[in-house]
Amino acid sequence: MSPSRGEFSSRFGFLMAASGSAVGLGNIWGFPTNTASNGGAAFLFTYLVLVFLLAYPALMAELIIGRHARANVVTALQGLSRDRSTYLLGTVVGFVGIITVSLILSFYAIVSGWMMAYLIDPLARIAGLQGMASWLTDDGWLRDSTFVILFMGLTVYVISAGVKEGIEKWASRLMPSLVLILLALIGYVVTLPGAGEGLRAYLVPDFGAVANPNLLINALGQAFFSLSLGAGTMLIYGSYVSKQESLPQLGSMVALLDVGIAFLAGLLILPAMYVAQASGVPIYNEAGGLIAGPGLILSVLPALFDSMGSVGLLVALAFFLLMTIASLTSSISMLEVPVAYAVENHGVERRKATLVVAVLISIVCLVIVGNFAVLFDLVVTVTTEWSQPLGGLFFCVFVAWIWNRDGLLREISQGYPEVEGSLFWRIWPVYVKFICPLAILMVYVQLLGLF
Ligand code: PHE
Repeated sequence: MSPSRGEFSSRFGFLMAASGSAVGLGNIWGFPTNTASNGGAAFLFTYLVLVFLLAYPALMAELIIGRHARANVVTALQGLSRDRSTYLLGTVVGFVGIITVSLILSFYAIVSGWMMAYLIDPLARIAGLQGMASWLTDDGWLRDSTFVILFMGLTVYVISAGVKEGIEKWASRLMPSLVLILLALIGYVVTLPGAGEGLRAYLVPDFGAVANPNLLINALGQAFFSLSLGAGTMLIYGSYVSKQESLPQLGSMVALLDVGIAFLAGLLILPAMYVAQASGVPIYNEAGGLIAGPGLILSVLPALFDSMGSVGLLVALAFFLLMTIASLTSSISMLEVPVAYAVENHGVERRKATLVVAVLISIVCLVIVGNFAVLFDLVVTVTTEWSQPLGGLFFCVFVAWIWNRDGLLREISQGYPEVEGSLFWRIWPVYVKFICPLAILMVYVQLLGLF
């Protein structure tokens, strides 16, 4: 590998970058609404169990492969192979990961662009630019394309500066700000009329819902998306971790930060929805479920902010800043996957690689924007419901079935010399070998409608 490969300069830097990747729209938007529509605290409980029993082991698989290889996803998997067929498998899985993460970025950038447009909207209104404000919040090809390009521009700005000066520096600034904004918003919203009902919908368990097999599937999908698994992002971040760090410990901190922030986001979104209801905004759809899709963020919450008068402008500003920050720290981790490949395997200079890859992904974004009704849901479903869990499955297969146990143990011992006698080493290898692949396969069986 090139001697100039980047490395996170501190444990804090890695934690901010990796939890920045994990914490995104999936936590602040997906998790609270999934919880409210699936039995409240019963879903929360199932989710926590799944994160620690299945997603954490899969996260560890990616971090360990990455740190061992100190390389991009393709080279890392090829390096673990034993023969021609596993080499080929590694190559295919690596490239599928790069394509998956690029496609995830291509829909993520569209949604993140909306967040930026809604962030600028209150500023336009404060400045009295009503025409601009309605352009920013009305659906439109031009608005979407403009903000895709702006958002990708920000992502390029961070990634082209490299691991330490780009990813680490920005994640270490943005993540603490995200937590502060989130806490401030919760503190304000829970004091408003109607918030108590939202807290009840979020936190009072309906254990009847846990028996529903769809709940398990939803929770697993949510956990994989939220922890950025199965697409090579955690692998590439793992490849920048120093050999002095204990990976099992770092991995568990990332998982804890991710669920912690998802939990906090629930304390904001659910109360906000019921506060909106108390001020006359409809929050249930025709089927009787809570509005959870784009309608939640782009119409229910803005209607709530509008009903708050001038303080609503400030709340809207803070909320969409929160969403933009959460998106950016995730999108940079996505762009790093193809960029690291282009830099390491094709010798392209980092800035140039970043720009070329970003332009290609932006073109895909614009094609999706132009054919939104046909392509958007399709790309989301294929990448998050199919490619990500499948990628996760293959990372587990590489760690547990293709890599040899001694090599694996040697890698984890670095930074954690006492691992051999630990609970982690007693449990984790069995999990990645049998339980994770089986559980992921079950999702497929379910998706194919076989039971
Ligand atoms: N984890 C991010 C979120 O919750 C999404 C993501 C998926 C990021 C895959 C990187 C890779 O929004």
